[in-house]
Amino acid sequence: MKAVAVLPALREVRLLDHPAPDLSADTHVRVRTLDVGICGTDREICTFVYGAPPRGESYLVLGHESLGEVVEVGGAVTQFKTGDLVVPSVRRPCPHAHCRPCRAGLQDFCATGDFVERGINQVHGYMTEQYVEEARHLNHVPAGLRHLAVLAEPLTIAEKGLAQAWATQGRLPWACTTPGKPRGHGLRAVVLGAGPIGILGAMKLVLEGFDTWVYSRSPKPNAKAALVESFGARYVSSAGTDAAQLARQVGNIDLVYEAVGHAGVSFALLEMLGQNGIFIFTGIPAPEGHIPVPGPQLMRNIVLKNQAIVGTVNADRAAFEGAIRDLGEFQKRWPAAIRAVISSRHKPDDFRDLLTGHARGIKNVISFE
Ligand SMILES: NC(=O)c1ccc[n+]([C@@H]2O[C@H](COP(=O)([O-])OP(=O)(O)OC[C@H]3O[C@@H](n4cnc5c(N)ncnc54)[C@H](OP(=O)(O)O)[C@@H]3O)[C@@H](O)[C@H]2O)c1
Ligand SMILES: [Zn+2]
Ligand SMILES: [Zn+2]
Repeated sequence: MKAVAVLPALREVRLLDHPAPDLSADTHVRVRTLDVGICGTDREICTFVYGAPPRGESYLVLGHESLGEVVEVGGAVTQFKTGDLVVPSVRRPCPHAHCRPCRAGLQDFCATGDFVERGINQVHGYMTEQYVEEARHLNHVPAGLRHLAVLAEPLTIAEKGLAQAWATQGRLPWACTTPGKPRGHGLRAVVLGAGPIGILGAMKLVLEGFDTWVYSRSPKPNAKAALVESFGARYVSSAGTDAAQLARQVGNIDLVYEAVGHAGVSFALLEMLGQNGIFIFTGIPAPEGHIPVPGPQLMRNIVLKNQAIVGTVNADRAAFEGAIRDLGEFQKRWPAAIRAVISSRHKPDDFRDLLTGHARGIKNVISFE
C-alpha cells in the first residue's frame, strides 16, 4: 500500500510501499482511509525533532487526523459494519498496571508517559491506504459528515478543553441556567490564535453561547478574520491592539482558550484574565528560550481573582463523540464557514510540499480516494 512516512535515521520523508496489515484479533476492524489532515505536529515530525518509528522499524507512517470507511470487521465486533464511517483516536494506553488513568481508558491523562500515539510515537499512523485498529479506538461518524469529519480530531482539543473548563468552573454557579439559553450565555471568551485549533475552538465557544473574541497576529482584513466573523465571533489583531487594550474592549474575560503556542503573548493575556476566570493552555512552545514574566502581578491576580489555569493535551472518547456531534451542529448553523476550515485537498503524491514546504491555508487534507 502507498504510505507517507518519515525515516528519522535518514532524515527523509517518503511516499513508500507499506504492507497491508492483517486482522489478527476478532476485535479488529479494517479501515480504508478517506481523508487525513495535516497539522503542525506532522510538519514538526518532518523536521526530525520528535516522532519515533515502531520498535525495530526504520520508518513511521505519518498521520493522526483521520477519517475512514470500515471494510472488514472481526467476529466479535458488533458496533461497526462494512461501509460505516469512522474516526480513530490517537493515543494508546501505557502498559503499567499502576497507571490509573490508562486503566480507566483515560490515556489522555496517562501518569507514566509510556503511552504510544498513532502517527507520532511508535505506532504507524493513518497516512496510508488502509489500517487495522481495535474497535474500541474507533468512533462512529454519520454519513452526512463525510466531507467534514477529518476535522473531528483537531476539534477534540477544544472539546476536552471546554469539558475541563466546565468541570473546574463547577466551583461557581458559572453556567447559564436560563431555559433556552446555552451554558456560556453571558460569559466572555478570548481565543488566542486563529490557526485550525483556534478557529475550531472559537466555533465551539460560540456554539456554547460565549461572547467570543479571536485575538491573533495578522491584521485585518484577512481570510481567517473574515471566516471567524462569519460565524459570530469578533476578530482583533495583536498587531494594532495589545493585551491590555483587548481586555478593555472585552470587559471581564471569563475564559481564555490559548491556541497559539507562543509564551510571550500567552502570558500577556494571562495578566488580563478576569475575575473568577479560567485560562486553558493548549499550545506547545519549543522548550528552549526564556521570557520575562511579571510573577508577582500574576500571582496576585490568580489569588485575588480566584483564577484557574488548566493545561490540556490529547482527548478522550467523550471528546471525540462531542467533536463529531458538534461538527454536525456547525454544518447546520455555519455550513460555508466549517467547509472553509478545510482550505485544500490533495493527492498523496503532494505530500512533500504539504509537509515540508511553506505553511499556508488553514487545514490541508490528503485524500486517499
Ligand atoms: N494540546 C493539544 O493536545 C494540542 C493538539 C494540537 C495542537 N496543539 C497546539 O496548538 C497550538 C495551535 O495549533 P495550530 O495548528 O492552530 O497553530 P497555527 O496554525 O500555527 O496557528 C497559530 C495562530 O496563532 C497566531 N499567532 C502566532 N504568533 C502570534 C502572536 N505572537 N500573537 C498573536 N497571534 C499569534 C498565528 O497568526 P497568523 O495567522 O497571523 O500566522 C496563527 O493564526 C500549537 O502550539 C500546537 O502545538 C495542541
Ligand atoms: Zn494534529
Ligand atoms: Zn498510562
